[in-house]
This record gives sequence, structure tokens and C-alpha cells, in this order.
Amino acid sequence: METRNASAAPGIGGATRVGPRRLTELLGEWRGDGIGYLELSESIAILVRDGRIVPGAVLPAERPLSEALGVSRTTISASYQRLRETGVALSRRGSGTVVRGAARPAGALWSAPDASEIDLSAACPEPWEGLAELNAQAMGAHPEVFRLAGYDTIGLPALRAAIAARYSARGLPTAPEQIMVTSGAQHAIFLVARTLLRRGDRSLIESPSYPHAREALAATGALVAELPVGSGGAGGGYDPAAMLDVAARTSPRLAYLIPDHHNPTGMSMSARLKSDLIATLAAQGAHVIADETTAELVLGEPRTVVPFAAFAEHETQQDAIITIGSLGKTVWGGLRVGWIRAAPDLIARLEASRRVGDLGTGTWEQVVATLALERYDEILAQRAAQLTSRHRALTEAVAAQLPGWTLSPATGGVCLWADLGARESTRLSRRCAAHGLRIVPGPRFGSPGTFERFLRLSFSAPETDLVEAVARLRAAWDGGRGASVPHPVGAEIGGAAERDTVV
Ligand SMILES: Cc1ncc(COP(=O)(O)O)c(C=O)c1O
Repeated sequence: METRNASAAPGIGGATRVGPRRLTELLGEWRGDGIGYLELSESIAILVRDGRIVPGAVLPAERPLSEALGVSRTTISASYQRLRETGVALSRRGSGTVVRGAARPAGALWSAPDASEIDLSAACPEPWEGLAELNAQAMGAHPEVFRLAGYDTIGLPALRAAIAARYSARGLPTAPEQIMVTSGAQHAIFLVARTLLRRGDRSLIESPSYPHAREALAATGALVAELPVGSGGAGGGYDPAAMLDVAARTSPRLAYLIPDHHNPTGMSMSARLKSDLIATLAAQGAHVIADETTAELVLGEPRTVVPFAAFAEHETQQDAIITIGSLGKTVWGGLRVGWIRAAPDLIARLEASRRVGDLGTGTWEQVVATLALERYDEILAQRAAQLTSRHRALTEAVAAQLPGWTLSPATGGVCLWADLGARESTRLSRRCAAHGLRIVPGPRFGSPGTFERFLRLSFSAPETDLVEAVARLRAAWDGGRGASVPHPVGAEIGGAAERDTVV
């Protein structure tokens, strides 16, 4: 399947219009549940909150939507009314029903999360426990950073050297000239996509995959073709023959892969699949992004994960690979330091193209990152122990409470992929909201209408939260069996108070 993948088509005067067909597609399987206006408004609110419908988008007129969905116009009117009441949308004269931008709390340094709510929509571990110490060390030992400009587009020499040395130690000889420091991995993905793709080019992404990478590819105007990772992703693992077949037929200019500890399945490709994919894609002249943001987060005993690019058979193949890394999941998501490893001439192109959009990564963060890399083995060992025990707590709770579900064989990373055995994902995530659990439905990880049987379960939260989250999942799952849709509680999933990113 190939999609242009924007959440909606741009309309006249720049407004984004979500057509009735597109909305029906995005709503997935919502109808089987009954056709209440509440259910419809909540489903639209979920799409708004996870970014599949963007602020400013104009929702379809009532009549065509009622025809497309096969529900009464009164139901549509009532759900639009509810979207207005809950702050998700507003009526604009001459435009119709328009999605509102997120309201941010004013004044406070940060808004305290609702303590009763559990949020599994993000897969972000808390900061590594030694981070404050590194910060103090940076302040005490490196006052010279304040004499620098404060930011730069390529990275501090010491940090580039430390990142390069780490790749070399992991089996991929790397020189500092092959490294560019970025403001996180997402920045890196978009920068590469923007530099290498033109409107109408073909790109390729695993399906399912990390949704913001898909968005980055699509934002360039490229077509986004899908590389199914396996027999549904869960339980069965990869299907190498099918993947190589699709890769051989697609001829993409750029492919985006998460070869190790894939988001959302947590699975890793075999060495054979890695080298075969590299050979197949490089033979077509494709560049390949290997997103290794979570590659070094292993479950079980700490072990070295050999970088994807080391599986290239010769230098030309290796030059086709652009490796992306980040401290976001290992140290902290708030430390916005990531990097790109690529051939030096490509690094030079990326640096030139970067300045259009940003002037560099902060020196302060880079100093903290350099200090973190000095202790990286210790950090990774602590993370491995923490995530292993969280993964165990989650899988045991699911086995006990939801024995009919099948979980993907995660070997690392921060999440896994649950096969529910029924096309219930969007409905279930809506019900979970009523039970105080935020969870992103499976279709968010593929193109619209796919993965309704799957749910991503992140295990980055503490064990007690995970066990409670599974109890709420069970309650929501049981509640869905023939019961009516629970009435929304508390802050309401529809409230546009915050907008989620799915990380
Ligand atoms: C696979 C993958 N790549 C990239 C990112 C973005 O990372 P960063 O916070 O470094 O931008 C994430 C974050 O969740 C991710 O899961």
C-alpha cells in the first residue's frame, strides 16, 4: 500500500479539509459498537489528540459525513456539538466545524499530570538517575562553554569524537567527520528526509512503524510505501522473504527502518535479514535510514548490539546507510541530543540544509551528553535492568488478565505489540480513556484502517503503573463485550488541553 499520508488534504486558502471518506477511513472500526454521538465525538477527539487530524483542519459537513458513515445527521450534529463543548472544535462562519489548536496552561512552569491517570501513549522512560549529577559536573567543570556561541550545527568536537568512538567499539569503524549532532532523533529523521526526498519520490517504511517517521517522510511530499514486518507483527516475528520481495519491487529513494528493538514490536531483525535488506535496497540506489534510537536498550543481560551499517558487505553499501541515534530513551527525552552517522559528504549536505530550519544544538546539552557518553555502559546496564523488570511485570500481568492476547517477542526497546485477536483497538483505546488510561490504538502505527487488531503496549512506566494499566485494560476490554460505551470521566479524552506525540 502506498499513501501520501497527510492527515488531510490542504483545501482552499490553505485550510486543511478532512473529507468524509478520509474521516471514515481514519475512524476505522468505530461503527460496530453502536452509533452513539458520544462515541463518534470521542473517536474524533482521539484522532485530534494523537495528531492524525491537525489543528485548523475543517471537519466534513454534516450531510456527507452522515452518508459516508451511514448514521443519522442528528448523530453527527450532536457529536460536533460535543466536540465544541469539550473544546476540541469550534464553529467558524463560512468554514464549518474547525479543529482547535491545543490550549496550553498559562503561568505554571509545568502542569502536573493527573495523578489518577496512567499514560501509556508515550514510551519515554524517566530521566536516568545520574542526570542531575552530570548537570552539576558540567556546570562545575566546563565553565568555558559559556564563552562559546551556545549552539552549533555540527556538534562539539568532543561529542562527535565520543559518538564515533562508540560506533567503532561496537564494530562499526567511524571517524568524527561522519557524525553530526542533532536536536534529537526526530530532528535527524526529518532533516535526512527533507534533504534527500523530493515531492513524488518514493520512500519506504516498515509497517507498523514509529508514526512520526512516517509523517516526516510524507511531509516532503514523497509517496510512502509500506514494508510489512511480518505475519501481523505479533507472535510470528519477521517474514524475511516477503520483506525482501517488497523491498526489491519498491525502488525507494529513501527507506526508513528500525532494525533493532523496533517501535512498536520490540523485535530485532536477524543478521541475515539485515545484510539482505541492505544489499537489496542499496542495489536500487536507495539510501537507508537505520533508526537506532532504542537499539542499545536490551532486555536481559547487557550485550553489545552491532550497528546495522556493520552488516553492509562493502563500502558502497555502507555509504547508503544513514544511522540515527539519540540519548532520548537512554538518558532522558528532555536532553535533546541525537545524531546522524553518514558518509562525510552527506554530512556536509545535511549541515547545509539544516540551517534553513535551525541554528544548531545547544552547547550546554552537548556537554551533558558528552559526560553521559563517558558513563554510557553504566547507564545502559541500569536501563537494561529497569526495562527488563518492567517488561516482565507487563507481560506477566497481560498473561494473567488478558490470556487471549498474543504479545510480540520483544528483545529490547520500550514497547511491544499486542495482538488482541479481534479488531477492537480503536474502540478499546476509547474505553480505556474512560478508565483513566491513555493508550494509542494500533492504526496510529500504520496507514489508516490497518492494525485494528493490535495495540502498542509501552513498558517504560514503573511496574506498579503497568500492573494497574493492565487491570484497566482488562476492565475496558470486559466492558466492551456487549456493554454500552462508558461515559467519559474527568478530564475527558476530548479535552484539547494537550496534544499527544507518540514516542
Ligand atoms: C524509533 C524512534 N525514533 C525516534 C524517536 C524520537 O527520538 P528523540 O526524542 O530523540 O527525537 C523515537 C521516540 O520515541 C522513537 O521511538
